[in-house]
Amino acid sequence: MNSRAAPWVGFGAGKVILLGEHSVVYGHPALAGPLSYGVTARAVPSKRCHLSLPGTLSRAQRNLLTQAFQRAAALCGSPAVKVTLESELPLSMGLGSSGALAVASTRVLLKAAGQDDSPEEVARLALEMEQEFHGTPSGVDHTTSAQQKLLLYKRHPGQSTGRVRILKSPRPLKVLVALVGDRSPTKHTVAALRARQARWPDRYTRLFKQIGTLASEGAKAVEQGDLETLGDVMNVNQGLLAALGLSSPPLEEMVYRLRGLGALGAKLTGAGGDGGAVIGLFLEPEPAVAKLLELGVRCFTSQLAGPRAL
Ligand code: MEV
Repeated sequence: MNSRAAPWVGFGAGKVILLGEHSVVYGHPALAGPLSYGVTARAVPSKRCHLSLPGTLSRAQRNLLTQAFQRAAALCGSPAVKVTLESELPLSMGLGSSGALAVASTRVLLKAAGQDDSPEEVARLALEMEQEFHGTPSGVDHTTSAQQKLLLYKRHPGQSTGRVRILKSPRPLKVLVALVGDRSPTKHTVAALRARQARWPDRYTRLFKQIGTLASEGAKAVEQGDLETLGDVMNVNQGLLAALGLSSPPLEEMVYRLRGLGALGAKLTGAGGDGGAVIGLFLEPEPAVAKLLELGVRCFTSQLAGPRAL
């Protein structure tokens, strides 16, 4: 045990996908960045290794989390610790809450064990937990959470790991995140799309490829500080997500609202479906946030990359 540093703390950032959700599952690149909000895990020495969970969770949720946690604890070689979690992220709204939970838990367990807790090692082991929640994710969520950097991610064929290129932005990259309606679980949205893709492979494969090209174009725009181009790429990506059947009236309405409030680009982020999160790229998001809060919309801002004001 790494007893000198107790209590141990591990953070897992939430994420937004700027470009390329869903097509990333099929091996195309996605552009994703970390939120400043996430999940914090705290560990203290205890008689046995366990996760302390709030009583509000259902039995099924408790079982799933406990099982995933025990698996992670064994893999990390964790000593007997009690881990508590604190989340600033809305659950199941497309902001990577499960990936952040997996990363925060894995990071704190590695710290308690005195093991390597580099972003790469955290991502490698957090995948084990993320897979308990999601089956076979592309890996973009927990990788972005562990790296806490804006990145271009490309899945290795058939695996939940991938190639990561960290991106630097010469300009502050600020998004407004708005939450709309209730969302269907990612697993279901991904499975329904997979069924459409299996039935009409040529048409869907064409669209995935186009979205992958947009993600690469967006990455280039970020590196060149060309936020106007990035915004346009996001708008086109939204059109293709709608073509894939992943958008819905509440999401579309918020996309248009954000564009009306001055977003350079706006789109759904994450799995989409009946509700979830919409992001808008803004030079200065604060006035739009104030307006939306006045209207009762749940929203916040986050800077994903680029120089920060002192
Ligand atoms: C979910 O945040 C992103 C999806 O592309 C699923 C995945 O990448 O595993 C919808």
